[in-house]
Parts: sequence; structure tokens; C-alpha cells
Amino acid sequence: MATKDVEALSEAEASEELAFLAETIAAHDEQYHTKDTPLISDAEYDAMRQRNSAIERRFAKLIRGDSPSFKVGGRVAEGFQKVTHARAMLSLGNAFSDEDVSDFVDRIRRFLSMEESDELVLTAEPKIDGLSASLRYEKGRFVQGATRGDGEVGEDVTRNLLTIDDIPRTLKGEGWPDVVEVRGEVFMEHAAFAALNERQEAAGKPHFANPRNAAAGSLRQLDARITAERPLRFFAYAWGEISERPFTTQVEAFKIFESWGIKPNPRTLATASIKTILDHYREIEELRSGLGYDIDGVVYKVDRLDLQERLGFVSRAPRWAIAHKFPPEQATTVLEDIEIQVGRTGALTPVAKLKPVTVGGVVVSNATLHNEDEIKRKGVLIGDTVVIQRAGDVIPQVVEAVEAKRTGREKPFEFPTHCPVCGSEANRDVNEKTGKHDVVLRCSGGLTCSAQAVERLKHFVSRDAYDIEGLGSKQIEAFYEDGLVKSPADIFTLATRDAASVAPLAKKEGWGETSATNLFAAIEERRTIDFDRFLFALGIRHIGQTTARLMARNFDSPEALIEAVTVANDKDSQAYADLIAIDGFGDTAIESLVQFFHEPHNQEAVAALLGEVKVIPLEAQDLSSPVAGKTVVFTGKLEQMSRSEAKVRAESLGAKVSGSVSAKTDILVAGPGAGSKLKKATELGVETLTEEEWLKLVEGY
Ligand code: IVH
Repeated sequence: MATKDVEALSEAEASEELAFLAETIAAHDEQYHTKDTPLISDAEYDAMRQRNSAIERRFAKLIRGDSPSFKVGGRVAEGFQKVTHARAMLSLGNAFSDEDVSDFVDRIRRFLSMEESDELVLTAEPKIDGLSASLRYEKGRFVQGATRGDGEVGEDVTRNLLTIDDIPRTLKGEGWPDVVEVRGEVFMEHAAFAALNERQEAAGKPHFANPRNAAAGSLRQLDARITAERPLRFFAYAWGEISERPFTTQVEAFKIFESWGIKPNPRTLATASIKTILDHYREIEELRSGLGYDIDGVVYKVDRLDLQERLGFVSRAPRWAIAHKFPPEQATTVLEDIEIQVGRTGALTPVAKLKPVTVGGVVVSNATLHNEDEIKRKGVLIGDTVVIQRAGDVIPQVVEAVEAKRTGREKPFEFPTHCPVCGSEANRDVNEKTGKHDVVLRCSGGLTCSAQAVERLKHFVSRDAYDIEGLGSKQIEAFYEDGLVKSPADIFTLATRDAASVAPLAKKEGWGETSATNLFAAIEERRTIDFDRFLFALGIRHIGQTTARLMARNFDSPEALIEAVTVANDKDSQAYADLIAIDGFGDTAIESLVQFFHEPHNQEAVAALLGEVKVIPLEAQDLSSPVAGKTVVFTGKLEQMSRSEAKVRAESLGAKVSGSVSAKTDILVAGPGAGSKLKKATELGVETLTEEEWLKLVEGY
């Protein structure tokens, strides 16, 4: 490995070393992940990555398409292997009331023709709000773990499951069946969830909406090292394939699982009395907010397995089990204030500022009040004690005011007539069709309103738009405040300005060499973007992902679209008629587009952006080129084009360019000096082309 100081490297040397590092790091990644036998220590590996980042920082224009900096934990997303479940993973029917529960029991008794005097024992255990997984043990060793998927086919997440402390590699004790699949729920505790969201925020990544999403997102990481950093837990509650069954009841099964070292939920009960089971339900509901993890009900199961077998299934749920769901969690707290938030399109949304309260284990201090009419309808006053509610994915809501608790000191909220951020007048749109005023008040300040500008930038970098790793809401706010990023184009000139700056990002608080380099590399990666994403990213009102795609399908380039939209300002123009003729594209969206591009400020911002990025027309992506839809990997030295040129060209022909070879690779383009990737491709029988052959293949497209 080169030992020269990065400062002393010539451009040619830097380029050569970056190529070497990309190849070598990728080879070590592969060794680590697929062979489980790392050849170098973590410290050596990290040193290589750091050197790569340092060189990239000095020679930004040499950053390669396959740079290790672009890979999360050194791995390119390739997806998981599919696993067909030997026995389908089922779902459960629901009960919402005590009556539903007695109906469930009656149904079972009838089905089994039981006499009133016959005992029917049921088990009751919390229903964990996580995601189910199946753990396959052969001769006591954990051999494969899978997600539920669609119930028939899941994904192989063995490595990720192995990072969970509750899941043993080998079963304890002895006498286990040769094959046993233990099934249960993977979940994240509230404390781990809160810590993870804090880290996400610090890294400029989006928040997880709830612990279930966080658990799912963490388990489905391609790099199991990331899963390992996120403490997940597991409770067993069922089984799949089993070569011989050493138990005859649900309770016995749980005892045996426990003796093997896999825990079922400790709050499991077995009883023949409906009253006891419903008491248990209420008890668990009381305990719910203090458990430390989300549950959304109690599952009842027939204890005897012979009865379970007789009962069987209806569609995809067992007749012998049911989930008794809890109502959404509520709490009361004080409404301390109402703040107005200004959105990307200027909408003024009232947000309830609450005295922090725990609702289902998650601390809530904000809740939405939707709009002015909603505040009036609910009659809430500032200072009121209010009931708030949190259900699954939705943002906490204010349900009602507790009028009995009023002291007389509460004050009505005066909805502002002007934008609280920029002071522009706030108006209600008039719906042209109905002639009625919209419920939403909007700031008329457009981009002169800093709140709107920041929100637009946040939208611009968001997941479905430019999706720039390391550039989230927090970073955008800080960059805007510092005057570093005021419009989208500024994002793409950030690295160049930073290089010339006396106060470079790497020296700023919360940043460092690595995070700054990674950010610049992530931005660079997005200089090429699909037309529909580009359009969606602009954050034009009424232009969501679907409309953006529709537009992209109908125009060859942003320039062509802008021209049409500019002419369409005149409603009698042919351009307007052409736009309206596009199936699925209505008046509202057209007007919004016209208005957007009519605004000089927007014209300038888009022109500046187009000067920085390359937009790939959808047409080009959909082209029936010989490589459309194929996954291509470039390796070795390319003589006639640069790596990034090759990547852009391949992508514009509808191919997907990946940095590593897998079973999903369709074509490997190998130049001189190709090493491990070529070897792997040959082993996998992947089509391998020289650069010449590749150019021939795509010639003329
Ligand atoms: S029993 C054949 N028990 O709920 C019966 N499921 O809505 C298999 N779940 O897919 C399920 N806690 O992911 C069972 N204690 C529990 C559960 C539980 C959570 C999940 C499971 C299932 C879903 C059905």
C-alpha cells in the first residue's frame, strides 16, 4: 500500500490509489460478509477507508462511481435471499370487545361440539407490536432465520438475527427435535428506539416513526454490523416446521422453548375462565405504558394442540387463536401553547405544544391540530387539559378538551392573519369549482419567506426526492442559517466553496474530516438524477411523485417541460391544450406548474440547479436498449471512458450500475487489472465483457 502523504500525491498517483483502494476494500468487504473470515484487522480496514476518504477530499473530482465512501458499511444494497417457509406464517383474526371474545369462544365450543361442562383452556399473552421472524434450528444449531414476508416466502436475515441477544446460536439442554423452527416477534424497546432516533438525527437521517418501523428497518439491514448497533429483542410464541413435537399444549411448548434458551413473553397465562382471561387483558392494558415496549393487544390461543389441529384455519388465520386489540392509547396533559408551523407550500399549521407526557412509552410534546376550523370545532383553549391520542403510525392528535378541568384562566387562540415567520399576509385559497374558501391559511410570501425556503430545501433532499445521505432536516436548517445553502443549486457547489473556505465544514462543530468527505461524496453521487425525481424534488404544489412521473413520461427534458409550461401561461395556447390532454393531469396541477415557473425567483433557482446536475429523461431510462433493466458492474481499468462516464451512460440506457458482483449481476465489464470481481463473476457464470465489447453492445443507443 502507498505510504506517501496525501498532500504529496500527484493527481495520477491519487487516481491510481483510489482505484486500488476501491477494489481492495470491496474485496475485504466481501471476505467479511460472505466468507465470514476477515483477512485483515478492523483497524487496518478502517485505516484503508480513512485514507480513501482523505484522498477523495483532496481530489474531489477523482471520486469514483464505485468509491467505498458510497457504500453503507462497505456494502452495496443487493437484497436478501428468499426463503420459502416450510409451514406458512399466519396472521390472526381480531376481537375489539369482550363480546367479540365470547363469540370467539362460543364458535370454538360449537365447532368442537363441546358440552357446557367440558373445560376449554385458553392461553393469553401480550401481542407484541414488532415483526415476526422464524428461527430454524437443526440439531440444536441455528441455521437460518427469516422474516415473515408474505407468509409463504420471507427473506433470509440469519446474520441480522444472530446479533440479537435473545436468540441463541445453539439451543440449551438436549433432546431437541432434529429440525425445529421457533417463531416469534422481533421488536425494539422504547429506550433503544429513542436513542436510535437521536443518532439518526445527528447523522442527518430521517426519524423512525415508531419502534416497529425502527425494528423492521434495523432487521432488514444488508450490513449486519448496523443491526448489531441497534439492540433488538425477541419473544417466542409459536413454531413452524418441527420434526417431532415434544409437547402437547401451548403452555408446555413455552416451557420447553424457555428450557432451550428462547424466552416467550413472561406475562403469559392459561385459564379455563373467560372472566380470568378478560381480567388478564385489563391488567396488561394497565401495565401497557410501563412495559418498555409496544404491544397492541392480547393474543388468546387454545392451549391443547390436539384441539388446535381439529380447529384448523379459516383463510390465513387459525380458528384457535385471536388477537384482542387495545383501543388507541390516550393520555391527558396540558395544552401550553399553540404554535404556527409554516410548511413548504406556505400552509400555516397549528401545532399543539404540550406538557410532555408519555403515551404508550413514547414521550409526546407536540400534536397536530390540523387547521383553524379544527381548533374551533374542538373548542380547545390554551391552558386546557386535553386528551391526546397516539395510534400506530399517525402523528399524535388532540382528541378533546376536558372541560371539567377548566379554571377560567384558559385563553382562546387567535389565529394569525400574517405569516409568523416572514410577516406576509396569510390567505385562504378559494376553490374555483365550489367558490368556497379552503380551510388552510397560506403565507403569501413564497420563497421570500425563509420558513418556506427551508422547508422546500428539506423536501428537496428528502428520501423520495434527492435523498442525499447525511443531509437531513437538521443539516439543512444549519446550512441555511449559516448562509451556505439558500437554494438547491447551492448544495452542489458546497464542496468547491468549502475547499476555498477559511472555515471548512470539517472544522465545524458536529462535523469532522470523515463526515464532511462523506457528505460531499453523497452529494456528488446525486449529480445525476432521474427526471421524475428531479421534478418531485422541486416541491411544486400538487406535483407529487405520481404527477412528476407523468410529466417526466411526457417530456424529453426539463427544458422542454419548462418551455411548454411557460407558454401555457396563456390558457388559450396550444401548449395549455396539450398539457390538459395528458391523461391524469388536471387543471390544478397545471396551474400550479404554470404559477411556479412564472415566478422569476423559481426560474432562476431551477436554471442554476440545471447548471449543476444532469437529469436523465425517463424516455432514456425506459429505452429498450440491450442493457435496459440489467445490473452492470465495471471493474479494472477503463481506457476509453472514466468510471463515472461509464456509469452515467449505462444508467441512461436503463441499466443499474452496482459496485459489487452478486448473483443478480447481469454483465461485468472488466478492464485490465480486474481481480476478485472478475473471479467471482466467472464463478457465478455472469456474462463478462471487455470495454470494447461493452461499447459495441451499447453503440448507437
Ligand atoms: S401468534 C398462528 N402471538 O401478530 C399464530 N402472534 O396479527 C401465529 N404477534 O403475524 C401468531 N405477538 O407477527 C402470536 N404473542 C403473539 C404475538 C403475535 C405479536 C404478531 C405476529 C403475527 C401478527 C398477527
